[in-house]
Amino acid sequence: MAVQYEKLSGLFTLETENSMYQMKVDAYGFLLHLYYGKKTAGSMEYLLTYYDRGFSGNPYDADRDRTYSMDALPQEYPIWGNGDYRSPCLEVRMADGSFGSDLRYQGYEIEDGKYGIAGLPAVYGDSSIAQTLKIFMADEKSGLEIVLYYGVIPEYDVITRTVKVENRGRETVQLEKVYSACLDFLSGEYDWISFYGRHAMERTVQRTPVVHGLQVIGSRRGTSSHQYNPFLILAAHEATEDYGDCYGLSLIYSGSFKGEVEKDQYNQTRISIGIQDEQFCYELKPGEVFYAPEAAMAFSGQGLGNLSRHYHKLYRHHLCRGKYKSVPRPVLINNWEATYFDFTGDKIYEIARQAKELGVEMLVLDDGWFGKRDTDYSGLGDWKTNERKLGGTLKDLVNRINGLGMKFGLWVEPEMVSEDSELYREHPDWAFAIPGRKPVRGRSQLVLDFSRPEVVDGIYKQISMVLDSANIEYMKWDMNRSISDVYSAVMAADRQGEVLYRYVLGLYDFLERLHVNYPDLLVEGCSGGGGRFDAGMLYYCPQIWCSDNTDAIDRISIQYGTSFGYPVSAVGSHVSVAPNHQNGRVTPIDTRAAVAMAGSFGYELDLCRLTEEEKQQVKRQIEEYHKYWDVIHNGDYYRLTNPMEQDVAAWQFVREDKRESLIQVVMQNTHGNPVVPYVKAAGLDPEKRYREEDTGVVYTGAALMYGGIPVPQRAGEYLAYRMYLVQV
Ligand code: GLA
Repeated sequence: MAVQYEKLSGLFTLETENSMYQMKVDAYGFLLHLYYGKKTAGSMEYLLTYYDRGFSGNPYDADRDRTYSMDALPQEYPIWGNGDYRSPCLEVRMADGSFGSDLRYQGYEIEDGKYGIAGLPAVYGDSSIAQTLKIFMADEKSGLEIVLYYGVIPEYDVITRTVKVENRGRETVQLEKVYSACLDFLSGEYDWISFYGRHAMERTVQRTPVVHGLQVIGSRRGTSSHQYNPFLILAAHEATEDYGDCYGLSLIYSGSFKGEVEKDQYNQTRISIGIQDEQFCYELKPGEVFYAPEAAMAFSGQGLGNLSRHYHKLYRHHLCRGKYKSVPRPVLINNWEATYFDFTGDKIYEIARQAKELGVEMLVLDDGWFGKRDTDYSGLGDWKTNERKLGGTLKDLVNRINGLGMKFGLWVEPEMVSEDSELYREHPDWAFAIPGRKPVRGRSQLVLDFSRPEVVDGIYKQISMVLDSANIEYMKWDMNRSISDVYSAVMAADRQGEVLYRYVLGLYDFLERLHVNYPDLLVEGCSGGGGRFDAGMLYYCPQIWCSDNTDAIDRISIQYGTSFGYPVSAVGSHVSVAPNHQNGRVTPIDTRAAVAMAGSFGYELDLCRLTEEEKQQVKRQIEEYHKYWDVIHNGDYYRLTNPMEQDVAAWQFVREDKRESLIQVVMQNTHGNPVVPYVKAAGLDPEKRYREEDTGVVYTGAALMYGGIPVPQRAGEYLAYRMYLVQV
């Protein structure tokens, strides 16, 4: 049993294969967090200490006991108003205007299998892999009921959480902050790791000590954003890739969010994550319910690599859905960097024909195929084929491409509208704008109000007509600006604080309809590259375009950061032209392929312009990708170096049965009279012998892992090396 409850002591214990999580209902009905970490046995209640602490107040029930204070005790779900002055998870403005609430334990339920959340993405799993615990808490005065959900997935050392708020009272309340999960630690010195960035340079790893005060990351942009990713790690100071305790908090949500870490006056640490509380206010009328998005917590007692592998497996097997969850995805050619807006149907066909010869399996037609769209100043919202530009219908073009034996995929940006479009002229109120103010434009476009079902319906109708019109097997769902001027023309003034959350629900509703009505459609997420690379999107899109930056060397860092919380199978990654369009860097085409292969592989350049030799290289790369696909997508992923700090970037895939492994190495810098770097393999069976494919040399797993591998030093910039190992 993953979930246990002891009635006498009020103890809830959640167990995974290598972790234990414990909380307790105390004598007053408060829910105290006791422990999360390596497995122990018995009650951890002895960890709680009680002292009379100045300026840490006491609940009324404690009477003269001044040693009992919510300001010092670890909370399971901290609220504002009960004497805990640290950053809370729940803040409610009551009907009388006050902010105080008081949650007390009411009861629990244990169910087999993993709970789901209506309208929101969530990890799924049946009773063979998961159990659910629900804890009911109530605020007697207001009639608010809070249900804390826990999904325990022992195999991956994962516990998911979400929170349901139900107004069972008689008066309307305002939810000002509802976080999804929080962890209180009584002791320990920690680092926190977050992932920051910008457009074309996403998910840079930042590791800093947790210091006194509140440290915050988040997004106010309406999307999870390029700037901060909704994923946090709390790691013991001494934790490394393969040593030490670390905890992950991953929010399965694609909108504005906030992550906090706070070291308090008693050196205790609180880490929490949830929906961004700024510009958020949710009015909950009697009988209404609010669901916070899900957060997935994982624990590793063996360092960061292990923590990442938990998330990789969890998301691959129990979050991603659809036909392409586990089957190989077609190697694609995307025309964006080859043509931008400047193409004809014949040009696209020519790119496809050339690509087919080299082994590419799908042509993706990017931006510019619809409406009046020859620049990014117009056309969004009009999802009708520009037949003049294509020289025929979309179906004609798709049939020609299919005739080559290739699949066809299409780019769309359904959440957006250009002011110069038929849609905007017809429905100006569908776009976000604050009455009487000029809206902020982003890429010269406005954002459609997806909190309104009729807007979602209207765009869905257009997009489904396109999908029904031809054999379209892939869709790239883009979103190319941050949201601003949030105001919904049909929402009451006092409910405008709900719009951004409802927008995300509208987005999920659209994506869910695609999932149900087009079950074989492969949807790739995208937001100016990796601006919405989050676990929420993975529920609908098994892959996400990782970054608009296609330079292999920049991509190494971007993909390194991404790998902490997301599986390689989710990373859309393409070989593009050199010099690179984003930074002008020239790298060998095999290096570009090595980096792109650590993802869902494709090409994004005009293959017709390659030399004969390069074309042969492309042909070989595609054959190699097919050969290595299984170990890359289904294998365990190991970060062998830190490319932010070392010249040598190296990573490795190992099949779960350890019979096969692929090591990729890229030199990010060259020097005269070089110091030879040694890369230590990981994850192999130390006792077994492995033959390296190219040289035929046989090594023991132990030798490769403990002695390492000297990286060959050849003159040349940005060279890549590969070792493919098979057990003998
Ligand atoms: C975004 C995407 C690109 C491309 C363009 C098209 O920037 O990330 O890959 O699709 O839009 O406008």
